[in-house]
Parts: sequence; C-alpha cells; structure tokens
Amino acid sequence: MAEHYVVAIDQGTSSTRCILFDHDGRLVSVAQREHEQHFPRPGWVEHDASEIWRIVQRILPQAVADVGASASEIAAIGIATQRETTVLWGRRDGVPVGPAINWQDTRTDELVEELGGDEGPGRFRDRCGLPLATYFSAPKVRWLLDHDPVLREQAEAGEVLFGTMESWLIWNLTGGPDGGIHITDVTNASRTMLMNLETLEWDDVLLEAFGVPRAMLPEIRSNAEVYGTTREALPGVPIAGAFGDQQAALFGQCCFTPGEAKCTYGTGSFLMLNTGGAPVGSTHGLLTTVGYRIGDLPPVYALEGSIAITGSLVQWFRDRLDIIRSAPEIETLARSVEDNGGCYIVPAFSGLFAPHWRSEARGLIIGLTSYITKGHLARAILEATGWQTRDVVDAMDADSGIALKALKVDGGMTANNLLMQFLADVLDVPVERPMMSETVSLGAAYAAGLAVGYWPELGRLRDNWHRAARWTPDMDPERRAREYRDWRRAVERTFDWVQ
Ligand code: G3P
Repeated sequence: MAEHYVVAIDQGTSSTRCILFDHDGRLVSVAQREHEQHFPRPGWVEHDASEIWRIVQRILPQAVADVGASASEIAAIGIATQRETTVLWGRRDGVPVGPAINWQDTRTDELVEELGGDEGPGRFRDRCGLPLATYFSAPKVRWLLDHDPVLREQAEAGEVLFGTMESWLIWNLTGGPDGGIHITDVTNASRTMLMNLETLEWDDVLLEAFGVPRAMLPEIRSNAEVYGTTREALPGVPIAGAFGDQQAALFGQCCFTPGEAKCTYGTGSFLMLNTGGAPVGSTHGLLTTVGYRIGDLPPVYALEGSIAITGSLVQWFRDRLDIIRSAPEIETLARSVEDNGGCYIVPAFSGLFAPHWRSEARGLIIGLTSYITKGHLARAILEATGWQTRDVVDAMDADSGIALKALKVDGGMTANNLLMQFLADVLDVPVERPMMSETVSLGAAYAAGLAVGYWPELGRLRDNWHRAARWTPDMDPERRAREYRDWRRAVERTFDWVQ
C-alpha cells in the first residue's frame, strides 16, 4: 500500500489535534479536542496527563479514519507539544504521580529566587541559554521532588520518570510500561534548563544545581529520525518527528535561513528568529534556544521572545468573565468602539515573560472611567497582544542588531483581522500569514516526513509556503508613540503589586 499521508499530533496548552497532511503540505483531515485546565490555587495551572493521553488515543485513529485511510497508508507520525509542562510518572504502572505542572504555573517563584542566589536570574544562562524563571521545567521537577521524599528516592532509582508532553506521549504510544521508549527531542530538552546548549546533552552542573536525578531523564534525540513504532492508538506507524510546538512552527513556516522570524499566536505567543549554527546570547531578555536539528546534521539555534498570555486572555474574558460566548466574538465587540478609551490591560497572570522576566508581576486593568464599556475592554485585550509583541520585537532588534522587515504569523489568533492590523500598526512592519496556518502541526509533519523520505529535502518544503494575507502599517506615528508610552507605564505598575 502506498503511503499517502503524514500525521501530526499537536498537543497544545488548551487542546490536542491530529492532522493528516499530503505531499503538498495540504491539510487532509483534522480531529481535535480540548482538555481541562485546572487552577487549584492562584498562580497554579495544572493538566491531567492521563486525560491528554486518552484524547490522543481517541483522535489519532479518528483523523485517519475520517479520510477512510488505515495505518498502512501513514508514512510517519510527527509530534509537537506545548513545552516545559512537566509530568512525572511511574515506570512500572505508567500512572502520572500527580497533575502535570503547566508552563504558566508560578508556584516555584520563591524557589527560583533562591536558586538564583547572589548571581540572580542569569546564573545558568551561559550553560542553558535561559534565565531562571518559573516557566521552565527544572524548577518544577525540583519542587515536586522537594515536596515528597519518597518520590525523590523513586526518581533516583529510575522508578519515576520525568518528561515533557512529547516524552509522555511517545512513551505511551510505543507501549507504556510494556517497553515504551523514554526519549525527548532536543528542542523540548532545551527548555528544561537541564540541557547544555553547546553539547546538547544533560549537564551535570545543572542537574546538581536543580537536584534532578539523571536516572529519571529521557534520552535526548534530534527532531527528525525514526524513534520507534507505535503499539497503541494507531499501531504499526513509525514515530519520526518530535518538536516543541514553537520550534515546530518555525520549521513549518520554513524559516530555514538565519534572519527569518515567525510569531505564533496561541495560548501564549512566541516570536522566534533563526540565528544559524551558533547560539546567540541575549542581553535584552530573550531566550537562546535550539531551533531544530535534523538527524545527525548540526543544530540550528534561535532567539525567542516568549509571551505567556495572549490567546488565554481572550479565553479568560470568555470563560471567567463570561462577557463573550466564543473567542471570535471578541473582534465584533472590539469593533463596536473606535479605540481603547484610554484603558490598558496587562495580563501578567503568570508574571511577565520576555523581555521582563518578572515572576512577581501581577495583571492589571488601568485607565478605567465610567466611559469604559465592554467594547473598550475587548479592544484593550486584543491590543495587549500587539503591545507585548512590540516589547519583544524591540528586544529582538536590539539583540540581533537587525531590524525586523516583516513578520510571518500563524496560530488561532491570526484569524482576528482587527488584531493583525493593530500588530502591523504598532510594529510598523508588514505582517504576513501563510495559507497553511497550522504551522505547528505542519512543522512536526515535515520533520517526520523528512526522516522517512516522504519529503526528499528542506528545499522541497519551501514550495509549499504560500501567502494568504498581508497587513501593512497604517497608524499615525505620533499616536503609536503615545500609546506605546502608556502601555509601558502600565507594564511598570505590574511589577510592585506583590510585596
Ligand atoms: O512554551 C509554551 C508553549 O510551547 C505553549 O504553546 O501554543 O500551547 O500555547 P501553546
């Protein structure tokens, strides 16, 4: 039977989807499901890893069956996942030892402060490219092991395993307690704070500093190689690609040349610039990270500006404040007013990530008067995404010394035309969206397809990139400067709320 498709699993913060792609990188079928978000205490965000695995078991065969295909027609599976989210599970029973701690969770803020000691947040930057922050996996693992001495003993004995979501899914897909393989990919590993950015191996100094036993860690592999074959959900298919979702989007957007950048607008938003074969350190609050590594080829590095809360601010407006019923409604509501009425919302729900890295920051709404309506709030919510991107782009320009000329965008929020126009306005550069906006899934599919020869080489992938929309700047420069100043003043005020 000829292999017609590659399947991508995109395990994100809010939902998981499985997408079949054909040779032209066209979406052939999609199955998707949301999972529960748990907020047991202020600042805590948890997921149930078993629920996520059950969802994959359901939607993977469903996406394939929807086109009347069978496993034998699938050339390979590629997996892209939310990064940093930490799950520990028993090697023998395959049961998670507790909830997965999500990347947005801030329970480790005091621990992170302590770990920095006199050297502060930059203590490990030289080794792993990252500042100390609640965002990354290592403090989360340390927190879990510190809170349960028995768990620490089991981790030291290799009886309890650590993984980010791709490790958890690959282990389960390849048999779980019955022979499952325990691996991670180099991009997800680069977000743990435990991997050395030069050697691409677990780093003894970092393991020691965070108190994380080596026995619980997965093996680090490239983004594109055959790791194993599925035994569950859709048995008999090679798993040949794994990626952190943002790096997958960089790959799916075909940013293969140094200087090419993309920003993905999902739960959070992540701007990433390909910096080529050597890691570039940041002095303006960005992250140095692995962009991708194809098999045995040398790695490609990237600079990243991570914004924690963008799409999830819209979700909060919908689910916690009940002001809209569906996410797209926010655009209609925002269009009911001319401007933000002087109102700014800074969504520092998980502290503020790039370029500030202030775990203690907390969100605010400022500029309220009796004039403000829910329309103004809707506008301020969308504008928060634009201004946060501007903060990150300014840092990227300063770090790389190259002014951005255009921004490739993707992700769910790019369907919002008001936001995309605002983005072009506040960045003062054109914003471009490709026809295939599912770039995370596409990047994972590309990696898997390259590994098994479904696609012959990178150059062939560029032929699949087609522009669907372009927004050009159209804002009075004086207004842009004034509103940006107001935004920056609002951001400053989030820093000192928690004593
Ligand atoms: O670093 C977190 C990121 O990987 C999450 O992405 O799209 O699930 O919000 P997303």
